[in-house]
Amino acid sequence: MKKIPYGRQNITQEDINAVVEVLNSDFLTQGPHVAEFEQAFADYIGVKYAVAVSNGTAALHLCTLALGVKAGDKVITTPITFAASANCVRYADGDVVFADIDPETYLLDINDVEKLLKAAPKGTYKGIIPVDFAGRAVDLEAYRKLADEYGCWIIEDACHAPGGYFIDSKGTKHNCGNGEYADLAIFSFHPVKHIAAGEGGMITTNNEELYHKLRNLRTHGIQQRPELRQFNHGIWYYEMQELGYNYRLTDFQAALGTSQLQRAEFGLQRRKEIASAYQQAFEGKSYIKQQVGVVKGHAYHLYVVEIENRDVLMQHLREHNIFAQVHYIPVHLMPYYRHFGWNDGDMPRAERYYESCLSLPMFPTLTVEEQLFVINKIDSFYV
Ligand SMILES: Cc1ncc(COP(=O)(O)O)c(C=O)c1O
Repeated sequence: MKKIPYGRQNITQEDINAVVEVLNSDFLTQGPHVAEFEQAFADYIGVKYAVAVSNGTAALHLCTLALGVKAGDKVITTPITFAASANCVRYADGDVVFADIDPETYLLDINDVEKLLKAAPKGTYKGIIPVDFAGRAVDLEAYRKLADEYGCWIIEDACHAPGGYFIDSKGTKHNCGNGEYADLAIFSFHPVKHIAAGEGGMITTNNEELYHKLRNLRTHGIQQRPELRQFNHGIWYYEMQELGYNYRLTDFQAALGTSQLQRAEFGLQRRKEIASAYQQAFEGKSYIKQQVGVVKGHAYHLYVVEIENRDVLMQHLREHNIFAQVHYIPVHLMPYYRHFGWNDGDMPRAERYYESCLSLPMFPTLTVEEQLFVINKIDSFYV
């Protein structure tokens, strides 16, 4: 059996054609394809504004800047995520405060967040960054209520969840990143994600002011609306009004993203089928703990389970060319965050989850045969 990774991009001839067309055009960057991708993505998610950037980490960084995070500002996030969800607070010199996960959903536990907020004077915490971990949508309605009570903003890290959704208390469906409850949401187009652009990211929002701020910050802080310039020296003139970055996406990456987006629903459907096949295959097996049923609105970026004897199993799977993976090493246990005083035992549920979690292969082009091979190799390990 050829190598089976935990995630893999799917590049078609249409994708290649889309990229080659841009390479033969006048613009490699700052051409028409970025705006086209932004519009197509905003339409897909059902949000007013989308700002394409060079990667998901840049998206997070611009969000903390746009929201005005500064030295000493406290922001709450989950330890079970990629480090970037926390690092963006540090880029702006803020303090990261971790809260533990819900052991059933593996998402940031809102009760723990509430405990932190309650225990400190109002205004201590500036924001919350919940993560739609593995593709499972956070209940942002509940977070909004809490955030409003304590004067916090919300950045939804939706890197794992384009196409994911949750249903609010009125029965309305909310796509991850639709900006109804979170101030800002971010996505990544890293190759293992649902939509691959090589590198790439997107920020979505319904807030017009933040939208314009993000567009300026993406391009060095240069004012993108000529009518808002302070001076005008001539037709060549541009005006840098604040300190920004070059976090632009190239036109050929945008063209790849737009092309990939056209197959997003197909990919999502395949991911659900694969999740369902795992679910059935492992049903009732005592060595594994799966999330119950095929969770509605789950975008299945990852298929995470908790499994006995994980480390030896992983080695066994590698010997059969199956590259299951661990998501994630709790961020508070990274040496960088230990320097801020975080330690073993601080997040017991996240740490317990980390001891036995495993992400099984999950990507749209995983064949039925490959999935059966994975299931059999896991099952035979325990009997
Ligand atoms: C949850 C989460 N947040 C942020 C990022 C950062 O995205 P990127 O790799 O595009 O910078 C990732 C990507 O791995 C992620 O999984």
